[in-house]
Amino acid sequence: MQNITNLLRTMAFSALFVASSTFAAGDPAAGAQLNAQCQGCHGIDGFKTAFPTVYSVPKIGGQSYDYLVVALKAYRDGDRTNETMHAIASSLSDQDIDDLAAYYSGDQKD
Ligand code: HEC
Repeated sequence: MQNITNLLRTMAFSALFVASSTFAAGDPAAGAQLNAQCQGCHGIDGFKTAFPTVYSVPKIGGQSYDYLVVALKAYRDGDRTNETMHAIASSLSDQDIDDLAAYYSGDQKD
């Protein structure tokens, strides 16, 4: 009986954890403080980087929250390869990423 109780407790705890991580709350106001380092590339319509190759910079304003979080973590963790974005994302905490995603998926005007 003890084992079942423990199992149930573990399951309840995991469910709580999953629920809270699904609704990770980014703060758009905090994201707006962080976005200065992004605007130079992502804020310019049709902007292209010239290094290391000519590269179009995707527009990220209005992109979905989940997509932005996944993309930034993938760059940071090396699952998605792009030198520039890896360098930038490496300095971001999970909270920074949530905040930036909240900002860019929100009503900002870029
Ligand atoms: C030096 C220019 C530069 C800066 C600064 C920059 N980015 Fe990027 N970013 C790029 C380029 C180029 C790509 C496309 C890379 C690729 O093809 O994977 C990209 C891709 C992305 C993507 C994926 C978009 C998609 O459609 O899949 C996200 C999200 C993103 N950047 C967020 C950010 C955030 C947030 C910041 C600021 C913390 C930032 N970037 C700063 C150049 C930049």
